[in-house]
Amino acid sequence: MEPIDEAIDERALFARAPSGTADFVVIANRLPIHHSPTQGTSEWRPSPGGLVTALTSVLQSRNGLWIGWPGVSDDIEAPCTFEGIALSAVAISADEYEEFYLGFSNATLWPLYHDAIRAPTFHRAWWATYQRINHRFATAAARSVAPNGTVWIHDYQLQLVPAMLRAMRPDVRIGFFLHIPFPPSELFTQLPWRRELITGLLGADLIGFQVPHAASNFSRIARRLVGATGTDSVLHYDGRVIRAGAFPITVDTTLITATVADRRVRERAAEIRRDLGNPEVVLLGVDRLDYTKGIQQRLTAVSEMFASGELVAGTHVVVQVAVPSRESDAHYDLERHNLEQVVSAMNGDHGFVGSPVIHYLHQNMPFEELVALYLAADIMLVTPFRDGMNLVAKEYVACREDLTGKLILSEFAGAAAELRGAFMVNPHDLDGIKESISLALKAAPSEIRARMLRMRRKVFRRDVSDWAQSFLSALNSGSAASESHEFDQSSSINSATDVATREG
Ligand code: G6P
Repeated sequence: MEPIDEAIDERALFARAPSGTADFVVIANRLPIHHSPTQGTSEWRPSPGGLVTALTSVLQSRNGLWIGWPGVSDDIEAPCTFEGIALSAVAISADEYEEFYLGFSNATLWPLYHDAIRAPTFHRAWWATYQRINHRFATAAARSVAPNGTVWIHDYQLQLVPAMLRAMRPDVRIGFFLHIPFPPSELFTQLPWRRELITGLLGADLIGFQVPHAASNFSRIARRLVGATGTDSVLHYDGRVIRAGAFPITVDTTLITATVADRRVRERAAEIRRDLGNPEVVLLGVDRLDYTKGIQQRLTAVSEMFASGELVAGTHVVVQVAVPSRESDAHYDLERHNLEQVVSAMNGDHGFVGSPVIHYLHQNMPFEELVALYLAADIMLVTPFRDGMNLVAKEYVACREDLTGKLILSEFAGAAAELRGAFMVNPHDLDGIKESISLALKAAPSEIRARMLRMRRKVFRRDVSDWAQSFLSALNSGSAASESHEFDQSSSINSATDVATREG
């Protein structure tokens, strides 16, 4: 690796970090808290999401430390602890935010790893900044981890950290988990710095992916590009053994079950249906507003069904939640603009006074409100063009304890490998989406129950803490054990083609 020129004063940066004492360190681009300025005051709030839930108890019990970016590039100081866990904030300047976060992470890697749905942009300056920030994260970990400790690195923003950390601290056990898809060679090899990324990842002892196919994409590329030897699950490189495998992330079923049992949430679900005008069928979409999610495509299909009379305003109603995301990126801005035109045309063309056909919410939503929406929805639409896992699909299934509710699911979401009871769709096929919605509308209650039961068995087999435990025990035991056995063997598409795989 080239010597790295540090733009930020790292001595000042790491002065507050605990040094050499943490037995277990988690490194993720974001800290488990976010800064939320409210009415002139500012405060730090826990970030929602399974990763935080999954790792909190492990970190609490193992003298843990979480290293991450606080999400604000100015001088706002992040707290040093959260729920008993030590936090170490890695600063990213405004220029670095442009080149590392918006640039290399989200305009190079994100589209490249998601089927190049948007053309990835390759800039040498972005690459230099990506290396510098990865080095900064690696240095923070190298300074804080105790002798022979364990470090778990997360996601595509930090793929160079494993090798950088290993060079600084060879005594440490290093795990890496990729929350998004890992692309096939045809796409990955476009990357001018493909060898560097592969050797960066090979610094880990265990590399985890969402689905088995992603693990084999990675291992094949490692053999071809950098001369690693071995199988898809055990690689030999640079005199070391590196294991790769699938550890499909899942949801916090305990939290979901408790939220579903909350009387106020159930009352809210009933209230939502009343507020929607007591339609016969509520169709729901919940997505981060991202071009990978296929939101426009699905709404276009639904709109055609209103046009043909198969769906009828007042009887059928759509709710689309689009959580704001990466808003300073032009692709995301355009996606929002185009999506809002589709939404507006749907209501303009098919709604009538007092009965819009779609309710569109471009906002963050408290978890209880999301669960109330899941309970209110008869049909859940999850149609990404490509998705590492997609936890919305699993959350919906986990909420439907009365075995009602139909899931329309993209075969290109990682979740499709497990949720075989869903109505599967190719998100590029508008007629196929319409056909699946039709089938779901007409399906007999017995079929719906059978499908939901099959999916709930999968989702309740293990929760997100089991996911974290299984990764960490594979890491610490040095075994090649992955969770591949969790996949439904009748899954044809995901095992046969280059279909890799929400997000975590
Ligand atoms: C995906 C990625 C995460 C990322 C999240 C939100 O789930 O896998 O690493 O944190 O999207 O994106 P953001 O850019 O806001 O962190």
